[in-house]
Amino acid sequence: MAAAALYRDAEAPVEARVRDLLGRMTLREKAAQMAQIERTVASPRALAELGAGSVLNAGGSAPRDRASAADWASMVDEMQRHALSSRLAVPILFGTDAVHGHNNVFGATVFPHNVGLGASRDTELARKIGEATALEVRATGIHWTFAPCVAVCRDPRWGRCYESYSEDPEIVRSLTTIVTGLQGHPPADHPHGYPFLSSVRENVLACAKHFVGDGGTDKGINEGNTICSPEDLEGIHLRPYPECMAQGVATVMASYSQWNGEPLHASHYLMTDVLKGKLGFKGFVVSDWEGIDRLCEPRGSDYRYCIAQSVNAGMDMIMIPHRFEKFLEDLVFLVEAGEIPMSRIDDAVERILRVKFISGVFEHPFSDRSLLDIIGCKEHRLLAREAVRKSLVLLKNGKNQKEPFLPLAKNVKRILVAGTHADNIGYQCGGWTIAWNGDNGRITIGTTILEAIKESIGVETEVVYQECPTETTVETGEFSYAVVVVGEVPYAEWSIQAKYVGT
Ligand code: GLC
Repeated sequence: MAAAALYRDAEAPVEARVRDLLGRMTLREKAAQMAQIERTVASPRALAELGAGSVLNAGGSAPRDRASAADWASMVDEMQRHALSSRLAVPILFGTDAVHGHNNVFGATVFPHNVGLGASRDTELARKIGEATALEVRATGIHWTFAPCVAVCRDPRWGRCYESYSEDPEIVRSLTTIVTGLQGHPPADHPHGYPFLSSVRENVLACAKHFVGDGGTDKGINEGNTICSPEDLEGIHLRPYPECMAQGVATVMASYSQWNGEPLHASHYLMTDVLKGKLGFKGFVVSDWEGIDRLCEPRGSDYRYCIAQSVNAGMDMIMIPHRFEKFLEDLVFLVEAGEIPMSRIDDAVERILRVKFISGVFEHPFSDRSLLDIIGCKEHRLLAREAVRKSLVLLKNGKNQKEPFLPLAKNVKRILVAGTHADNIGYQCGGWTIAWNGDNGRITIGTTILEAIKESIGVETEVVYQECPTETTVETGEFSYAVVVVGEVPYAEWSIQAKYVGT
C-alpha cells in the first residue's frame, strides 16, 4: 500500500505529499514522529514498531571507540532499514552536533569554534566551512546537524561563549552564511521561512539554535534567565534568526533558558507568535536534550503537564533521549483527553514531514559510500588551516611598531616551545570534539602546534619542547625565542570535568 500512495511520488508537490501521508497516520504514529531518541535506545521496536521520527547521538556517543565514517554510515543505515519497515515506511532523520566540523567522528576535519570564526569576520569562510562539514556529515549517512549556534554571547562567563560568534548581533547575523553552506543556496524566489535543501547527497539540514536569548542570561549562567526588554530581545538575540529563515533553515532548537522568567520551551509567544507567526518559520522546532524534563525539575511538575505545556506552546519535536515510550503514552493520553488539540499535533507533524520530504530522505534514505574518502580530506584540512589563520587575534607585536616581534625568524640556532597546549590535539580542539566535553591528548587526527612549528622551522634550527620548562632551561638554553602555548582545558556547556583539575 505504501508503495502506491501519493506521498511516495517524488514528483508530487511537497505539500500534497505531506497532506497525503498525514491523512494516513494514526494518532500514535503522529506522536511517534514528534520524538527524537538517542542512538543507544534506537531499537527495532522503537523504529519499526513504534515509528520514532528521529534519532540523535549525544556528544561522544559513537558506534565504537574511534569509529570510522563507514561504521557511522552502517549504524545509520541499519536504523533506517528498521524505520522503513514500519507500516507507512517513514524514514528517520538522524541528527548530530557537527558544530565545528563533523567533530564526533574520528579523523573528520575539525574547524575553529564559532568564537574563532567570529574573529575572522569572514562570511564566505563560514559558508565554505558549512559546505565542507555537510559533505563529511553526509559521508556518515547523517541528515541533520544541530548547527549553527547563533547565540549572541553577552557575558564571557557563559560556559558556551566559545560556541557564539560574537557579542555583536550584526557579526552573528552576518556569519549565518554557514546555513547556506550546510543546506545549499536557495533560489532567489524561495519563500521566506520555508525549509530548503539543495542536494540530498551533499547537503544537510541545519538547525539555528538556541531560540532565543541563550547567550544573554543573567551573569552568564548557563540555562539561566535572560532579563531584557522586548526591544533588546529583538535587536540583540533575535537578530540572526530572520537571516537564517531567508536561507531556508530547516529546523530551530529551543533554548533551555528563560526570557524574563518564562522558559523558552514553554513560550507560546516566542515559539508560535514570533518564530512561526511574525518570522514565518515553516520548518520545525526541536527541543533541547531533555528540555521537557528541565521544565518540570524546578517546579516538580508532572511530566505529562510539561509535555502539554511545551507542545501547546509550539514545540514540534521533543528530544527525549531515553523516555520515548513514556513520552508516547503521555502524548497520546493528552490528545485523547483534550489537553492538546489534534490541530497542534497535525501542525507539528506537517512541519516534520515537510522537512523530511524536502531533505530527500524518502528517495535516498541510505548513505552514499562514495563520499567516505572526503572525511578529513586535504582540501578540508587546508580550509581548516585558513580558518585557524584568520581566527588568530594579535594583541601586541613586540615592544613597539619599530621593533615588531613577528614574523618569527625561521632560521635561528635554537627555539623553545612550551605550554600545556603546545602538543595536545584534544586541548587544541576544545569541547564538542570526539567526546561531549572534548578530551586530553591524541583524540583524533590533526597537527599539533609543536608539530606545525617543526614542519615549518628552518632545517638548521633546533626545537626544544618542554611543557613546563625550568628556569635553568630558560636561562641556559640560549634560545632565540620561545613559543608558549596555553589555554583552557576543554569543556562543554557548564562542566569542566574534575579530571582536569590541577593540570
Ligand atoms: C545539548 C545542547 C545542544 C545540543 C543538544 C544535543 O544539551 O544544549 O546544543 O545540540 O544537547 O546534543
